[in-house]
Amino acid sequence: MKILVTGGLGYIGSHTCVELAKNGHTVVIVDNLSNSKLETLDRLTEITGARMAFYRVDVTDYRATAEIFAAHTIEGVMHFAGLKAVGESVEQPLAYYYNNVLGTITIAKLCLEYGVNKFVFSSSATVYGDQASPLYEDMALGQTTNPYGETKAMSERILTDVTKANPRFAVSLLRYFNPVGAHESGLIGEDPNGIPNNLMPYVTRVAKGLLPCLRVFGNDYDTPDGTGVRDYIHVVDLALGHVAAFENLQPGVSIFNLGTGKGTSVLELVHAFTAENGVAVPYEIAPRRVGDVATCFADASRAARDLGWRAKRGIREMVRDAWRFESATKGTKGTFPFVR
Ligand code: NAD
Ligand code: WQD
Repeated sequence: MKILVTGGLGYIGSHTCVELAKNGHTVVIVDNLSNSKLETLDRLTEITGARMAFYRVDVTDYRATAEIFAAHTIEGVMHFAGLKAVGESVEQPLAYYYNNVLGTITIAKLCLEYGVNKFVFSSSATVYGDQASPLYEDMALGQTTNPYGETKAMSERILTDVTKANPRFAVSLLRYFNPVGAHESGLIGEDPNGIPNNLMPYVTRVAKGLLPCLRVFGNDYDTPDGTGVRDYIHVVDLALGHVAAFENLQPGVSIFNLGTGKGTSVLELVHAFTAENGVAVPYEIAPRRVGDVATCFADASRAARDLGWRAKRGIREMVRDAWRFESATKGTKGTFPFVR
């Protein structure tokens, strides 16, 4: 099928483009390059052997996006395009509501206008708020604690209402847990600008010597070693989850957790990184980070039952592939100053 992938040059979108191509789909990418590089398109060609159609367009721009729908017979959409930094969303709420909510509305509107009934949406475990793990899809949406999370909850509600009004519309809301790792080729991976907020890219940059020391945010949580527990999922498993969700789309809304169902603490991840890669990661214990919960992991059984999908790669593969990508990456990341 011909699938429009919004945000297809970003971290998760690019890995999904690879798996879609491997499964015989034709990919059309739209990305405004606000958090990605055109070079990734060449990397996708290197990995898949296929040159994917690419449009540098902002998906909040209805007219420009409509031209893509007019030029291609799009049969389904995967909507990844969005801003994703939690802290930034608190400082710039309008940018997040505008980009993420208007982007979802624009893409959904064009789907209806062009008769595209298959829609896969990048949601997040953040929509559960601080409810206790394991988190189940049937739980009510939780109290989101930041504008980013609110844009995901709002987009979920918007897409749910659109399917109620358009019974042939098939939407899959995919709630990701903590995506990490990289493609095994080392050619694509997570490459955030500036100082990373998320744990794994921070760890890889400390390991590479680009940052001096990891700050472990709290060791007094009610967890086995006191540090925060999360459900890390290899980005290639996540990408495969998208292919499975797309190929099993049913009219109406379906919701799937994409996680492993297994929690790993900050220190477990750091120790696994060092053991697997033989590289030290200096760390210090720092105060808790505002807004963090102690534990967050999925009940992943619905995706296994309904999609026949489950994550196969473990923490060792995650830390190995993250490090392979970081070791191979050259570029601007080393130019920012050390912070303590
Ligand atoms: P990313 O920033 O690497 O990718 C997003 C891509 O969308 C980027 O290439 C960016 O340039 C593009 N983009 C942003 N706004 C756009 C717009 N208006 N028009 C066109 N392109 C636009 O992020 P990612 O980690 O790959 O995340 C993909 C999606 O998954 C996002 O919606 C994100 O909120 C969601 N998500 C991510 C995580 C995570 O931890 N990475 C977790 C849960 C959900
Ligand atoms: C993981 C653990 C930290 C950095 C965020 C978003 C969520 C989703 C995924 C988009 C926590 C600890 C981190 C560091 C640390 N994104 N940590 N030192 O917060 O679970 O989820 O990304 O939807 O919405 O909130 O991920 O990688 O930031 O943190 O100790 O320098 O690592 O406290 O326990 P988080 P994370």
